[in-house]
Amino acid sequence: MSESNGSEGRRFPAPQELAASANVGPDVYERAEADRLAFWEEAARRLTWTQDWDQVLDWSNPPFAKWFVGGKLNVAYNCLDRHVEAGHGDQVAYHWEGEPGDTRTLTYAQLTEEVCKAANALIELGVQAGDRVAIYMPMIPETIVAMLACARIGAVHMVVFGGFSADALASRITDAGAVVVVTADGGYRRGAPSALKPAVDDALTRTEGVRNVLVVKRTEQDVEWTEGRDLWWHDVVDRQSPQHTAESFDAEHPLYIMYTSGTTAKPKGILHTSGGYLTQVAYTHWATFDLKPDSDVYWTAADVGWVTGHSYIVYGPLANRATSVVYEGTPETPHRGRWFELIEKYRVSILYTAPTVIRTFMKWGEDIPAGFDLTSLRVLGSVGEPINPEAWLWYHQNIGGGRCPVVDTWWQTETGAHMITPLPGVTDLKPGSAQTPFPGISAKVVDDEGNELGDDSTGLLVLTAPWPSMLRTIWGDDDRYVDTYWSRFGKEVYFAGDGAKKDADGDVWLLGRVDDVMNVSGHRISTTEVESSLVAHPAVAEAAVVGASDPTTGQGIVAFVILRGSAQDSGEDLVQQLRTHVSKDIGPIAKPRQIMVVQELPKTRSGKIMRRLLRDVAENRELGDVTTLTDDSVMNLIKEKLPASSSSEG
Ligand code: WTA
Repeated sequence: MSESNGSEGRRFPAPQELAASANVGPDVYERAEADRLAFWEEAARRLTWTQDWDQVLDWSNPPFAKWFVGGKLNVAYNCLDRHVEAGHGDQVAYHWEGEPGDTRTLTYAQLTEEVCKAANALIELGVQAGDRVAIYMPMIPETIVAMLACARIGAVHMVVFGGFSADALASRITDAGAVVVVTADGGYRRGAPSALKPAVDDALTRTEGVRNVLVVKRTEQDVEWTEGRDLWWHDVVDRQSPQHTAESFDAEHPLYIMYTSGTTAKPKGILHTSGGYLTQVAYTHWATFDLKPDSDVYWTAADVGWVTGHSYIVYGPLANRATSVVYEGTPETPHRGRWFELIEKYRVSILYTAPTVIRTFMKWGEDIPAGFDLTSLRVLGSVGEPINPEAWLWYHQNIGGGRCPVVDTWWQTETGAHMITPLPGVTDLKPGSAQTPFPGISAKVVDDEGNELGDDSTGLLVLTAPWPSMLRTIWGDDDRYVDTYWSRFGKEVYFAGDGAKKDADGDVWLLGRVDDVMNVSGHRISTTEVESSLVAHPAVAEAAVVGASDPTTGQGIVAFVILRGSAQDSGEDLVQQLRTHVSKDIGPIAKPRQIMVVQELPKTRSGKIMRRLLRDVAENRELGDVTTLTDDSVMNLIKEKLPASSSSEG
């Protein structure tokens, strides 16, 4: 939690020119307030349906919602064909830029053809509506093509971020029951090819049910080949017909599963469905960013392997006929001005990214963006974690030239789309605050008992009415869905897991997670997941993991481990080994920033590890209240041993 949350006094009114031509005006809140369901129904009318719904919302069996009951549509048709049919086939859907500087441009007509071919290929491989397809890819156009091909034939895609390990991939494939994996030889990151296929090969030794692996050639790295199972994308997809007639599916037909960390070691397969999801991602993308399909160039600078990529690189922008930029690589490759160069090159007008990147740019210095022409920008967005007012102001000034509204959008994998955000032509902006529930969204701040709090108070964020793009369940685990999100305050109140404050004006400030989930560079990682990985190492007897605040990544992972007797003297080497172990086990994003070897861990009398105290140590603070500890000398022991036993940035 940032000290300055709520204390930054400056206001930035909506620029008049933007307000005058904005897609939505202040009346949108009143309309939604007057009739929430009619409001969402109107939003759904922006899509093309082949059959109308009988009922907007069925909430007769909470927390299992059905939206647009009886309605039918095809999600890919809505993202592609209908724009081509309306005469926009030549409009660019994606300006894609590879990290080495190679480029590809895909118009709506071309993208439609590619998706039809890929859909025909999946059908040839026996993929049917409802089957699950795993996608483990770099940021290349085929990733988006594969997702849309699944959507087109009613298959459920399950994208696993390319930075995840073989283990993580295997467990997700098993949990989802995927029958096909789409991958690539590799992708480019930080100036070098980074392999993906070996992780798939490794994962498939540990899971059954995958019949085929479709491999895109990107980096030309050598790959191992399993005859009969592995197929080159270019062999199978390129020869297919570019014609495919999209069948309509029920509004509640599953669209995708996206795994996210929970408070236990097992990730949760968040399930999204079709009609409600597309309605809300399309509407929010259009309203929150004031997207003008004929003139804007839109860029979500995130990986498609996260929900932000699903909703705001793929589905929202395409449903709105946006022209988007997609970039494969990292911001510092081959130089620290790469993003700004892309903004200049493509005349990007809307940029959407995460606070961790903005703080990195701050560290690199404002001279870098100042060296490029960023005058095409008109709206800036932030997502993934609370944006501290300093970073907001820096973003506004140094990237937005002081003229672009910054919309700080709060939402989650589970919510599917924006839930709390200012609107660029409506809201007077407060740096650091997500401010206002989106029209048609009911977000409240409550105390521990669930009582709604008034202005000027701090509590827990809840959502008190269903919304179209809400998750429908956790894949294969309805009970966990109910327990995790809908039991703390009853079956009709969604518990988000975030702390929030309402200021004197009623604006919402997000304060970070209240559960054992860390937020590292905008990625959710569970403390338990990292702990289980550490304990699985033969040298570790016990482990406790905390997220310590970090000036760049938001939180950094700090682990405290007790070694097994035989491993006691292994020292620095072992610490490095453990960091590598976690990185291999879960993925590089889960690699602990620091591991401290300790003799004991602070525990309450009931045996719970007191993470709060460990966080104090990790953040070099005076220790908080230790009175509930079984033995408060433990903390002195830990503190005394520092920094000798601590290791290690890197
Ligand atoms: C955090 C990413 C503050 C929050 C879309 C949430 C934010 C979790 C914001 C979801 C924001 C996301 N301000 N916190 N604007 N956006 N968060 O599922 O803790 O990867 O619960 O979805 O990120 O992360 P997820």
